[in-house]
Amino acid sequence: MKKNAILITGASSGIGAGTAKALAEQGFRVFAGVRNPQKAISSDALINPIPVKLDVTDTLDITRAVEQVSTILQEEKLGLAGIVNCATTEYQGPVEILPIKFMRHEMEVNYFGTVMVTKAFLPLLRESVGRIVNITSINGFCVFNSIGSSCAAKYAVEAFSDALRLELKPWGIHVSIIEPGGVATPLWKKSLRAFEELPNHVTQDQIRLYYPSWKKSLQIAIKDEAEHYKKTMPVEIVVRDIIHALTAPKPKTRYLVGRFAKTVAFFKWLLPDRYFDHFAMAEFKEQPD
Ligand SMILES: NC(=O)c1ccc[n+]([C@@H]2O[C@H](COP(=O)([O-])OP(=O)(O)OC[C@H]3O[C@@H](n4cnc5c(N)ncnc54)[C@H](OP(=O)(O)O)[C@@H]3O)[C@@H](O)[C@H]2O)c1
Repeated sequence: MKKNAILITGASSGIGAGTAKALAEQGFRVFAGVRNPQKAISSDALINPIPVKLDVTDTLDITRAVEQVSTILQEEKLGLAGIVNCATTEYQGPVEILPIKFMRHEMEVNYFGTVMVTKAFLPLLRESVGRIVNITSINGFCVFNSIGSSCAAKYAVEAFSDALRLELKPWGIHVSIIEPGGVATPLWKKSLRAFEELPNHVTQDQIRLYYPSWKKSLQIAIKDEAEHYKKTMPVEIVVRDIIHALTAPKPKTRYLVGRFAKTVAFFKWLLPDRYFDHFAMAEFKEQPD
């Protein structure tokens, strides 16, 4: 059995699409998990990979994706070399007022999505001693104001990945976590758009509590987003580490991707919480001091 097929979730854009394209160019059989395969087929990034309908919150989609992938693997006599859990959604806002439905959705996509897809594909991975690569973020080991809910979801994925690494050791299944700093992907715009919508989902009192002038806070958030985006790294840098995690004889357990991630990790390790808080509070400035 040749072991060279990979499944990627959230492959319609950003890091997932970049990984799908790079792996396909390297000769891997790529199953690109996307919510809308029709849209994906017309996208350049997904011409080589096979689009698989996969909303990671939908158990029926996951069951059908396993069936589709198994059938093709059998036909082509391939083994599943790995899965890459990339799907994400992100909401900004203080945890006190961010609606529970958004916090749940963030957990459903990032955490339970990763859990359900991984559990469903583990029998195939075990057959071929494949690997698991979970994309978290610097938000998986430190918390910034205004994105606490996202951080909670990423912390959960980190814990799940650590548990898998310990428990799958007897089968030789490696589990790696990818922790990038800012990456140039559509996620920034999507997250800002969700923040713009926040006043439509909470009361005026709640908005005033954290944003005495919503208009001004929104302007700051828009400017902040543009400033942060300028400092992002290209997708290819993250893809390089994902491919290392999938193919290197000795993959790392964690990949801190980019200078910002490495700096943050160092200060998080070095500083007591209250000192680190100054840095964490400075990242998103739309709330008053
Ligand atoms: N961009 C950054 O600065 C950055 C930094 C650190 C870590 N990361 C992490 O990198 C990973 C990839 O993010 P990205 O930056 O590439 O973002 P992205 O371009 O927004 O991609 C997110 C992907 O997730 C998909 N998705 C959303 N909800 C889904 C669901 N219910 N089921 C299946 N797929 C779903 C989206 O599909 P649709 O097109 O259908 O919405 C899209 O393909 C994420 O885990 C993210 O947290 C990103």
